[in-house]
Amino acid sequence: MCSSSLSVAKESFFLLAPLELLRSEDVKNITSIEELKKVKIDQQFIRYCIGEYKPAIITDNLFSFFRFTEKQAYLIIIDKRIDSTSELQRYNFYGLLDTYGKGKIVISSSTLTSEQIKKSINLTNVLINQGQAFILELFQLHTDYDESQDWWMHDVIYEIIVASYQDSNNDGIGDIQGLRQRLDYIQSLGVNTIWLTPIYTSPWKDYGYDISNFCDIDSRFGTLDDFRILIDDVHSRQMRIIIDFVPNHTSNEHPWFQAALHNDPKYIDYYIWHKGKNNGKELPTNWLGASGQRMWTFSSERNMYYLHQFLDCQPDLNFRNENVLDEIEKIFRFWLDMGIDGFRVDAVRHLIENDQYHDEPLSKDAKDMDPNIMYVAYDHTESADQSGSYELVQRWRKFLDKYAYENNRNYIVLITEAYTVDIKKVMRYFGNNREEHGSDIPINFLITYYLDKDENEKHGLELDKVLSDWQSNLPEYAWSNWCLGSHDSHRITSRLPSKELIDGFYMLLLLQSGTALIYYGDEIGMCDRPFTLANSDEIVDITAFNYGEKYFDKMIRDRQRTPMQWTSQEANAGFTSSTVKPFLPLSDTWHELNVEQQQNALRSHLKLFQQLVKLRQQAPFYGGYQKKVIATKELYAFIRWLDTNIYLIVININKKGHDPIINDFTKLLKCQNKELFGEVIARSCNILDDSLIGKEGNQINLNNLILQSSEAIVLKLLTYPSNISFCQQ
Ligand code: GLC
Ligand code: CA
Repeated sequence: MCSSSLSVAKESFFLLAPLELLRSEDVKNITSIEELKKVKIDQQFIRYCIGEYKPAIITDNLFSFFRFTEKQAYLIIIDKRIDSTSELQRYNFYGLLDTYGKGKIVISSSTLTSEQIKKSINLTNVLINQGQAFILELFQLHTDYDESQDWWMHDVIYEIIVASYQDSNNDGIGDIQGLRQRLDYIQSLGVNTIWLTPIYTSPWKDYGYDISNFCDIDSRFGTLDDFRILIDDVHSRQMRIIIDFVPNHTSNEHPWFQAALHNDPKYIDYYIWHKGKNNGKELPTNWLGASGQRMWTFSSERNMYYLHQFLDCQPDLNFRNENVLDEIEKIFRFWLDMGIDGFRVDAVRHLIENDQYHDEPLSKDAKDMDPNIMYVAYDHTESADQSGSYELVQRWRKFLDKYAYENNRNYIVLITEAYTVDIKKVMRYFGNNREEHGSDIPINFLITYYLDKDENEKHGLELDKVLSDWQSNLPEYAWSNWCLGSHDSHRITSRLPSKELIDGFYMLLLLQSGTALIYYGDEIGMCDRPFTLANSDEIVDITAFNYGEKYFDKMIRDRQRTPMQWTSQEANAGFTSSTVKPFLPLSDTWHELNVEQQQNALRSHLKLFQQLVKLRQQAPFYGGYQKKVIATKELYAFIRWLDTNIYLIVININKKGHDPIINDFTKLLKCQNKELFGEVIARSCNILDDSLIGKEGNQINLNNLILQSSEAIVLKLLTYPSNISFCQQ
């Protein structure tokens, strides 16, 4: 060992105790915990020496371990790098020690700044510089101690299409001012983070996912100044704001693409070009894009084909070009400087293509899918989820870490969208291991895929399969997330076997471990509005035209993007003035399904949603344990617990008309008492006050719990975990 590395190690070990207590000859040769244990210790050192040891992350560059008793835990971290040019390094300690999730620095090497020491540290995200060392006192995630670094884990993230939310200037299109007027409502949901789909300057061929200026706001929605005010408003409410970020492609109207078309040497290489096969007569590959078109379009200006994974007006950027990477970082920085708290990065699986340009095989599951238009008809072995795409996500995670560190900012979240049923590919976006990080929230679309199934397959066993699939594939260091839908899939209420089941699905979304993402309007159970090809004037999502009669209904996304339903009386449901034609027609369910009515009702989807968001702040739901209790075709039940608090959630998946289901939860939970009681904490709207289950506060005997079709409940058990052997980990 060279002398300088020894000096780092020495200083670091000394941090375990007041320095004088350990003599340097005692620690000189320590490179493992075992050796450390042999060191003679003094009384005063006891604070850090009692309890157990557990190695944490040990590599050539890092030595770290836990010390803990039943009541207290510490994490000791020592960076062993000696090269002063080493980069800021991030480690993920989450999941290594029970339910501990964050910590505060209690002792540190002198090289830490006071800002670093002040902030809490989230265990998913511990940053350390060359030669630094510190001891963290650990806390469980739910402890009420500085949430600046873990807000993204407990918040509910509310997805908003600004155009569809609230119009303020009566042009029929929602805008930033309109959204500002609705912040009170959003806050009343208990939702703390909003995510806006693109509001950048755009020709709006794909709801703004076709961007012609990444650093400006489209005039439909307002100005940069309006946006700055929105950010301030959101922050002054202690809420956060995330924006969609679309690096994969630009609009064909973007000045970069226009310059490329005019053979500007700087910009040609910003995009991906190919001469084509057979002297340009044939497309370079057979690749089919995700918007119902082949991925190559011929440009007569350049006599070459350009690549586009989506519409032909959305040419793909070339991420093998360092200049493009620089541009992307500039854009990140532009919005971060304005105060944005994170990004939802669009279409990450499409970022990089194999540049050998081999054809792609048809998928075995293609069945009768039309291979000329349906993306899922192919196995996208060459054009999706390439290792380069994972590397880009990791690079951006590093960039955001560095930005946050240098600018003394709270944690900046990175959410990624990879729309694929291949769960292993989704999981890879989390990063490779505890040292190479990717996305914080690779969006979990599994419930959406469950809803895609045929009617007779939407039962408890299938649901169990998708939920378990996610949990069993989730890396132990990764934080989970759930969503019920998004702007890309038809509304959940329209796809459930019974509309009433929405309440049970709120429970799955909000009470399972992980961040929850909710699509605007789903909190009131908004439904799809059907569109037809015959009424093509109404259609905004022009991508749907590529799919023809056969798939139109399945593919048209206007169905789920209709204006928010605020009131029951005013024309246009309060979205825009009654004299104006909204940019997209409202769903005709707005008379029965709207915010006003659900706020005024004693019980409603909205009220249950609010109640569950509150409940989710209780310790067992945020940071506690979770286990499935029973899954059958008709029923799904799970528990959440921490310390002495146990909650049981039971959902009857049947649609109306089936016999009630009776279960003995005393047995299922392996309760040692003869009887088991639970207090009703929340219930689906279809459970009436005078029913067997009855109101909140009622105590129910769980020896025979009876649930009718589509009913769902949350119970708090009135028995201690020690009596319920099911709770032993
Ligand atoms: C993502 C978006 C989708 C958009 C596509 C192209 O999948 O969620 O709405 O059409 O990317 O940007
Ligand atoms: Ca407007």
